Amino acid sequence: MLGVCYYPEHWPEAFWAEDARRMREMGIAYVRIGEFAWSRLEASRGCFTWDWLDRAIQILGAAGLKVVLGTPTATPPKWLMDEFPDIAPVDIQGKPRGFGSRRHYRFSSQDYWRESARIVEAVATRYGEHPALAGWQTDNEYGCHDTVLSWSVADLNAFRSWLRLQYQSPAQLNEAWGNAFWSMEVRSFDEVALPNLTVTEANPAALLDYRRFASEQVAAYNAMQCDIIRRHSPGRWITHNFMGFFNEFDHWRLGESLDFASWDSYPIGFTERFPFADDERLIWHDRAHPDIAPFHHDLYRGVGRGRFWVMEQQPGPVNWAPWNPVPAPGMVKLWTIEALAHGADVVSYFRWRQAPMAQEQMHAGLNLPNSHEFSPGGHEAMAAGAALAEIGAMAPTSQAPVALVYDYQASWVTRIQPQGVDFRYLELAFRWYEAARRLGLDIDFVRPGADLSGYKLVLVPSLPIVSDEAERAFAAADGVILFGPRTGSKTRHFAIPDGLPPGPLRALAGLRVVEVSSMRPGVRVAVSGAISGAAERWIEHVEAAGETIATFADGRAALVVQGRVHYLAFWPDHAALASAIALVVGKSGLATIELPDAVRLRRRGDLVFAFNYGETPWQAPFRQTPFQGASAVEPRGHAVWRLPVKANPAGPALPS
Ligand code: GAL
Repeated sequence: MLGVCYYPEHWPEAFWAEDARRMREMGIAYVRIGEFAWSRLEASRGCFTWDWLDRAIQILGAAGLKVVLGTPTATPPKWLMDEFPDIAPVDIQGKPRGFGSRRHYRFSSQDYWRESARIVEAVATRYGEHPALAGWQTDNEYGCHDTVLSWSVADLNAFRSWLRLQYQSPAQLNEAWGNAFWSMEVRSFDEVALPNLTVTEANPAALLDYRRFASEQVAAYNAMQCDIIRRHSPGRWITHNFMGFFNEFDHWRLGESLDFASWDSYPIGFTERFPFADDERLIWHDRAHPDIAPFHHDLYRGVGRGRFWVMEQQPGPVNWAPWNPVPAPGMVKLWTIEALAHGADVVSYFRWRQAPMAQEQMHAGLNLPNSHEFSPGGHEAMAAGAALAEIGAMAPTSQAPVALVYDYQASWVTRIQPQGVDFRYLELAFRWYEAARRLGLDIDFVRPGADLSGYKLVLVPSLPIVSDEAERAFAAADGVILFGPRTGSKTRHFAIPDGLPPGPLRALAGLRVVEVSSMRPGVRVAVSGAISGAAERWIEHVEAAGETIATFADGRAALVVQGRVHYLAFWPDHAALASAIALVVGKSGLATIELPDAVRLRRRGDLVFAFNYGETPWQAPFRQTPFQGASAVEPRGHAVWRLPVKANPAGPALPS
């Protein structure tokens, strides 16, 4: 199904009915509204103006649209900021961040919690049981614009309280953080300082705890909003729109308070932001790399415990990347259908009409600014709607054959102490995902510690801190496992584990790591044996108890296997990664198909979709003809096959 983000407060009231009628006409079912409208709802303290929103919701509902209402807490109004200036976040240099855009609040502000609870309660009381209301979006993109961490005195006080609960005594804190080093010991929690503005790097254990503290605050803030909404809005669901390539808080944890996850899909903007080499970025500059949207669909389906929406879909050029090309023709339609193939319930475009004013006036909408005329993206959205109508109802997604263990702490640990500047967790996880998808495999993202039964293959690109639950889940897994570098390399308190890395996984993986070497760009070390290619960026020197099946040029172990468990002791280049993934996929017994750079497959129920991000047709190697699209899948297009037999959940099925 399709949806759209709409801002009635930006348009003359005379537009609303016509907008609603045209939304319905093009097949839109859901409209998200309200998430930035606080100043229009409460122009000054206690002076609520509901009539305009009452009328907007009434008009949308009367047209047959279902409303998703956003809580307006991403944009506290000026009068509120003047009353409580201390709500503003403080940057890492200690400077308060100003009013005049959005997200100008910090999660540790008790004043802001109280004010948020008040406005959420007011909105939920008024609309919680409105017949047009389908569900809720809390806030908007938690953490956007670098707002998870704040560095004020108030943040410090909240951090100290959090530490008291974690450690009970300063002695235990000193022990956990290793504060004997550089005389960092404290005599009371009141002596703990924020880990910023230090002369050289701050204690990594303190930084990690500061991130944990901040992450828990975001989750608790969201849970607070959800509790209020659930009291006033029985039977309605709650979601939040997460972001792309964003690891600043633990999304698994926050997702626990939601009914399902949503995310905001801007594939071209993310292609600009991801650390691709320039030549690779150039290839995809107006089509997006073919794994960017799918990586997030699969991640947020996991965060949403099987359910997700795309709450904001790029409909044309955006305004916020260094360059903002018009998507190549066909891409808006392709992204829409692809999201559904990955299990989305709804794809909702951002936004209905391009705004002629303010910060986002260069951001496309489904309609041209100030008119009732569709933009090119609007026409593609309509074409996507027609294609989806032809496909009809889709089955729920089933468990994929491959699990990728994705961890937010892994991102924090490797950023706090990179050891090699280009050891980027996100990039590693993305490349592992890409390599498996190039073999036509469907992938589920799972949190560390999740039950791994039923997965034929478990990919763990890197997991520096291995919890007891994660250790148990790996030991109990029935599939083939591939661990990547730095797995098990740190304790919970950011220290090297007793007995050396991979810590609790030493026995399972059959090795210990005695030394690591990070390498500047250009240094490459050949790897040969059961896999071939080169190591770059990072190499570990391991003592193997298991079998060494690939070695570096100097004969040291590069890939160690013990039973079904594999440990890759380096950052693999493209060739080494492709062959490592092919090796473990082969051992897992999964059927594969080698896809070109630009083509990906995805199954949903008995449907098999092919998406061609390329500029030339892709001839699908199946005899069966697709029921939508052609066997020669057109450039920037898709094809869909219906399998004669029900898809086999134990492995990826392909058309005959
Ligand atoms: C998202 C945000 C929207 C809008 C959009 C522009 O990050 O949620 O409000 O700013 O980006 O692409």
